[in-house]
Amino acid sequence: MCGIVGYVGGQPAAPLLLEGLGRLEHRGYDSAGVAVLSGTGLKVAKRAGRVRDLADGLPKRFAGKVGIGHTRWATHGPANDVNAHPHTDAKGLVAVVHNGIIDNAAALRQRLSDEGVDLASDTDTEVVAHLVGRSEAGTLEGKVREALAAIEGTYGLAILHADFPDRMVVARNGSPLIVGVGDHEVFVASDLAAIVRHTTTVAHLEDGEIATLTASGFTTARETTTLDIDPAAYETGDHASFMRKEMLEQPEAAQRVLRGRLDERFGTAHLGGLNLDARETRAIKRVKILGCGSAYYVGQMGAALIEELARIPADAEAASEFRYRNPIIEPDTLYVAVSQSGETIDTLLAVQEVRRKGGRVVGLVNVVGSAIARECDGGIYLHAGPEVAVASTKALTTMFLGFALLALQLGRVRDLSIADGRRLIAGLERLPAQIQEILDREDEIAELAGRLADAESLFFVGRVRGFPVAREGAQKFKEISYRHAEAYQTSELKHGPLALISPDVPTVAIVPADELADRNVGALHEIAARRGPLVVVTHDGVDLGEVAAARIVVPRNERELDPVLMTIPLQLLAYHAALRLGHDIDKPRNLAKSVTVE
Ligand code: F6R
Repeated sequence: MCGIVGYVGGQPAAPLLLEGLGRLEHRGYDSAGVAVLSGTGLKVAKRAGRVRDLADGLPKRFAGKVGIGHTRWATHGPANDVNAHPHTDAKGLVAVVHNGIIDNAAALRQRLSDEGVDLASDTDTEVVAHLVGRSEAGTLEGKVREALAAIEGTYGLAILHADFPDRMVVARNGSPLIVGVGDHEVFVASDLAAIVRHTTTVAHLEDGEIATLTASGFTTARETTTLDIDPAAYETGDHASFMRKEMLEQPEAAQRVLRGRLDERFGTAHLGGLNLDARETRAIKRVKILGCGSAYYVGQMGAALIEELARIPADAEAASEFRYRNPIIEPDTLYVAVSQSGETIDTLLAVQEVRRKGGRVVGLVNVVGSAIARECDGGIYLHAGPEVAVASTKALTTMFLGFALLALQLGRVRDLSIADGRRLIAGLERLPAQIQEILDREDEIAELAGRLADAESLFFVGRVRGFPVAREGAQKFKEISYRHAEAYQTSELKHGPLALISPDVPTVAIVPADELADRNVGALHEIAARRGPLVVVTHDGVDLGEVAAARIVVPRNERELDPVLMTIPLQLLAYHAALRLGHDIDKPRNLAKSVTVE
């Protein structure tokens, strides 16, 4: 959420900053800005709108070899030119870009205003520029330290000062910052995506760290590491959008998360990173999964897997709510944090709450070295590869498989038989090809999406294992099509929402060939009797009787693994509905990738 990029070196900074901002735009896209330092002082250009609007309007003379840039997702104050970053001090000497939230901004704004400072914007960030500008310290780092001493909140900051034209100071507290080192040039970014084309030799700043960057290096105790990353993973390549590319990558991502973790001989999974031995596993009385948004819905799928396979009571809870109800942390509960970015602040704070009270948390996280991964007592990486589209797809698939592996490992230490373990392993191994089979039927699903796109309102319904699938389907649909899509338990329809069913309100129903199929079909009759259009995601062999419905038939696997296969067509439905409506697939309105503010 919000993106920062910075450069100090021998090249003109502005083109590098604009390129980096383009690659960070999924982090926030309501405004953008850059500032550069040169012999003639500080220059700033910023405006509401996209990075391309900023680039188009950039003054001809915008030279400088030191610079910072920002893409914004508004928190304090509307998205307009003034509230866009960088923010400057009263003398126009200091420029600041910031990710995070300054909690005591209101008090600091009041104090500055009482001291006669005119605040130009409505933002929390502007106070940092004024505090740095007013500091009497002799070095830029000293000024920043003094300013930060007055600040409470979270930040990733990059700061320029015209009196120190060869450097930039960066600081981190709760918002990631990565320093990248090139040949006589140094980059900083909130996300590797912004700099990976220029360098993969990086150091992740820790919370509380402040560093000075010059062309010849940076000042912290951090060692750099060279990451083995293919910059092409951050490009759309031949695909029209990142979402489409990432959906199509799911078979490979599924293979990667399973690779080396299945043990057919003993019908189990090996997740060494969990740091859980058999004795500790047997002592687990409950599993509590914590995640947000789609990660929470996959967490619900994961809880069902754990209950079914390991017979341990399990549930998932929205991490954003968890810590505010003063949760009882039980020593024999295993807490599982699930997150693609590893940065989602609500999930991170939930993990910290559990650990503060002595609980044990393991993580299912995609981004290596991210805050949540580091905060957990153990865990596994999902190996989905970089996910850029705001609407999560491949990461969710790997989360589901991560939960299947966890359930298998826990189950085999408890009461899951070796035969059932092997049955599940065979099912998991079939999944990548079955996901591919569904993706290959994109045209058929696109046609159905066309029928749904015009509805102002839709239901997504499912039962038990199918309910989180319906929730995720509705989530994806509303995120990118902006249609009102509501998920319900199929069984609950007749307790109220059936009143809304009409020819204008379609229902997407999840009806696997499981023990609930007949009951689900009964509910479809009730919808059809009210002339509600139906799209049914189902298996071959489910008898829909007289119900007139469009069907999407997915391949059969072990029933415990149905949810992941049933989710794939829902991604394609959402994608094609949004495409038909002409929406920006990768940057849906009002949203941004990785929610790093509470
Ligand atoms: C939905 C979506 C969000 C994220 C949620 C958690 O498509 O992307 O709902 O799932 O914000 O994000 P992570 O997994 O990064 O913690």
